[in-house]
Amino acid sequence: MLPRFVRPTLSAAQGAKRLSTSARHDTKVAVMGASGGIGQPLSLLLKQSPLVSELSLYDVVNTPGVAADLSHINSAAKVKAYTGPEQLKDSLKGVQVVVIPAGVPRKPGMTRDDLFNTNASIVRDLAQAVAEVSPKALVAIISNPVNSTVPIASEVFNKAGVYDPKRIFGVTTLDIVRANTFIAEAKGYDPATTNVPVIGGHSGITIIPLLSQAKPSASFPEDKVKALTGRIQEAGTEVVKAKAGTGSATLSMAFAGARFAISLIRALNGESNVVECSYVRSDVTDAKYFSTPLLLGKNGVEKNLGYGTLNSYEQVLLKAAIPELKKNIQKGEDFINKK
Ligand SMILES: NC(=O)c1ccc[n+]([C@@H]2O[C@H](COP(=O)([O-])OP(=O)(O)OC[C@H]3O[C@@H](n4cnc5c(N)ncnc54)[C@H](O)[C@@H]3O)[C@@H](O)[C@H]2O)c1
Repeated sequence: MLPRFVRPTLSAAQGAKRLSTSARHDTKVAVMGASGGIGQPLSLLLKQSPLVSELSLYDVVNTPGVAADLSHINSAAKVKAYTGPEQLKDSLKGVQVVVIPAGVPRKPGMTRDDLFNTNASIVRDLAQAVAEVSPKALVAIISNPVNSTVPIASEVFNKAGVYDPKRIFGVTTLDIVRANTFIAEAKGYDPATTNVPVIGGHSGITIIPLLSQAKPSASFPEDKVKALTGRIQEAGTEVVKAKAGTGSATLSMAFAGARFAISLIRALNGESNVVECSYVRSDVTDAKYFSTPLLLGKNGVEKNLGYGTLNSYEQVLLKAAIPELKKNIQKGEDFINKK
C-alpha cells in the first residue's frame, strides 16, 4: 500500500463531497526550484495531495511547462507558474509552506560543502523574499549544504527582524527514509512501518542514525551496526556515483520532501502527534542547529523531543559530529554577517 501522503486521492464522488464539506484544504504551498530534478517530482507528489489547495511553482527557468503539465491532473490543487526574479515575490504571496530545493546538486567526487559557493546566495535571495512577503510561512530547506543553508536563511530572517526559529527547517527526511529502508532490508521488516530516528546534520559524519531506537527494535552485531551507519551516512554519495555525473538523489528526495511538507501541513491543520526529525535552531547540544525528532504544530516546532538515550557507539558519533556541524554553521552565518 502507498504511504498515506501519496495514496491516490478519493473517488470523484468522495472527493467532491470532501471538498465541499471541509475547510481544511486551503494550504498554499510554494516550491522554489520547481523545474529541477527534485522540484518536478516533489511538485507532482504535492499536486496529488488533497491537503494542498494551491501550488505555486517558482524557478528561474521552465516553470510554465511544468505547471501546464501538472495542472491537467484531476486533483484539487491549483497550479501557477512564476519565472525569474521579477516574479519571485508574487510566487510567495499568501503561502503557508515554502519548500526550497533550488540550487546545484553534487557531481561525483564533490562533498555537499563544495556546493556552498553557488547555493549560499540562491538560498539567501529566496529567504530574503520569503522574509519580506510571507514571514510567517513554514520554510523547509532542501538545498545543500543543509548544515549551512539553514543558518543562512535564519540570519536573513533575523536581519529582516522576522526570525522565528520554530518556522525554519532543514529537510533531513531522506536520511530517515534511507535508514528505514536499510534497517528493514537487513531485518526483513516492512520498510513502510519501520522507523529509525536520525539526528545531527545532513552530511557525512554529521548524520547520526540511532539504530538503538529503531522501531520495531533491531539489534545487530557491532560490525553490522558500523556498516549500516556508514551506509546511511554515505547513501547520498551512492546515488551520486550511480548517476555518474548527472546529479544526486532526486526521486527519493522528492518522496522525502513531500513527506516532510505534508507533515507540516497536517500539523498546520491541527492534527496532533505529527513528529518528524528536522535540522532546526536547537539548544539540545553545543551546536546551534541540530536535528532531533520534533513535535510539529500550527506554529512549526511545538516541542523539541530531544534525542533520548544514546548507546556508547552513538555517543562517539555525536562527539565527532559536533565540531564539523559548528564549522558548517559558522560558515553559513559568516556568509550573511561578514559581507
Ligand atoms: N536535503 C537533502 O536531503 C537533499 C537531497 C538531495 C539533493 N539535495 C539538494 O537539492 C538541491 C537541488 O537538487 P536537484 O537535483 O533538484 O538540482 P537540479 O539542478 O536538478 O535543480 C535545481 C533547480 O534549481 C533551479 N534554480 C537555480 N537557481 C535558482 C534560483 N535562484 N531560484 C530558483 N530556482 C533556482 C534550477 O533552475 C533548477 O531547476 C541541490 O542543492 C542538492 O544538493 C538535498
